[in-house]
Amino acid sequence: MEEDLEYNPELYHSRRLKYSSRAIDFIKHKTSFGPNSRVIDVACGTGILLDEFLDASYVLGIDKSAEMLAFAEKRHIGQHRRPMLLNADAHCLPLPNGFADIVVVGHAIHLFDLGLFLQEVKRLLRPRGWLVTISRYPSGKEPYRPLYMYLLHKWAEASSKAVPRLLNTEDVGIGYIASLERLGFDHYQRVVFEAIVNIDIEEYIMRGEDHYLYREMSEQSQRSYKAELRSKLQQITSATHIAELNYDYVSLAQTQVE
Ligand SMILES: C[S@@+](CC[C@H](N)C(=O)[O-])C[C@H]1O[C@@H](n2cnc3c(N)ncnc32)[C@H](O)[C@@H]1O
Repeated sequence: MEEDLEYNPELYHSRRLKYSSRAIDFIKHKTSFGPNSRVIDVACGTGILLDEFLDASYVLGIDKSAEMLAFAEKRHIGQHRRPMLLNADAHCLPLPNGFADIVVVGHAIHLFDLGLFLQEVKRLLRPRGWLVTISRYPSGKEPYRPLYMYLLHKWAEASSKAVPRLLNTEDVGIGYIASLERLGFDHYQRVVFEAIVNIDIEEYIMRGEDHYLYREMSEQSQRSYKAELRSKLQQITSATHIAELNYDYVSLAQTQVE
C-alpha cells in the first residue's frame, strides 16, 4: 500500500484531469445508472468523479480528509445539484447494510487495505449492486514519461530521504480479482480507455511537483531537476505543448444474490 499521502486540495484539483467521458458512459451503461440510483463515491477527494453522477437522486461522497471535503463543498456552493459529503474512513463506512446501488472509487483503491475495504463494500451494496473503480495513469510510452521518471529517480537518489517506491500502474491486479471472488462478487470486468491529454510543457514540469519523490528532494535538487527536465524537453521538441497518453483503468464487479 502507498504511504498516507496528504493532499493540498486546491493544487490537487487544479492539476487532476477529468476521467475520460467514454469511461464514464461505459460505467453508467453497465451499472444501469439512472435518476433513482444511490451512488457512494468512496475517497471522493475534491469530487472529480462524484460530479459525473450528480444527476442521481442520492449521491454521497466520503473521504477521510476533512480538507478535501471542505474544498468539494465549496466548489458546489450555489449549484443546482450538490452531493452529500461525509468525513469517514473507507475501511469503516457508517452506512447501513445493502444501502447502495453503486459504489465508485476514483484513483484511490491502491490506497486502501483491500481485504477490509472489499468486505465493507460487500456489506454496503444491495444484492446485484456494483463496485466500480477507475484510476488514471500515464501510459509510460510517450517519450516524456521515462525522462521524467529517470530524472526524478536520479535526483531522489541524491536526496538523503528518498526511497523509490513506484505506484503499481497495473492497479490492483490478480489479488484484487481473487478477493472479489472470495467475497461473492461476480461479473468481474476490466476495461482500459485511452485519454490523450494535451498539456503545456510548463504545466507538465509543474505536475512533477506533486510526485512523492520530488517532495522528498532537497530544494537544490528540486531546482536542478526542473532545469534539467526543461532543457531535455526543449531538446526533444520545439512545441510549447506535449500530448501525453493516459489510460483510465475501469474495473467493475457485481454482488451476487445471497
Ligand atoms: C488521489 S485522491 C482521489 C480523489 C478522487 N476520488 C479523484 O478521483 O480525484 C485520493 C483520496 O483518497 C482519500 N483517502 C485515502 N485513504 C482513504 C481512506 N482510508 N478512507 C477515505 N478516504 C481516503 C484521500 O484523502 C484523497 O482525497
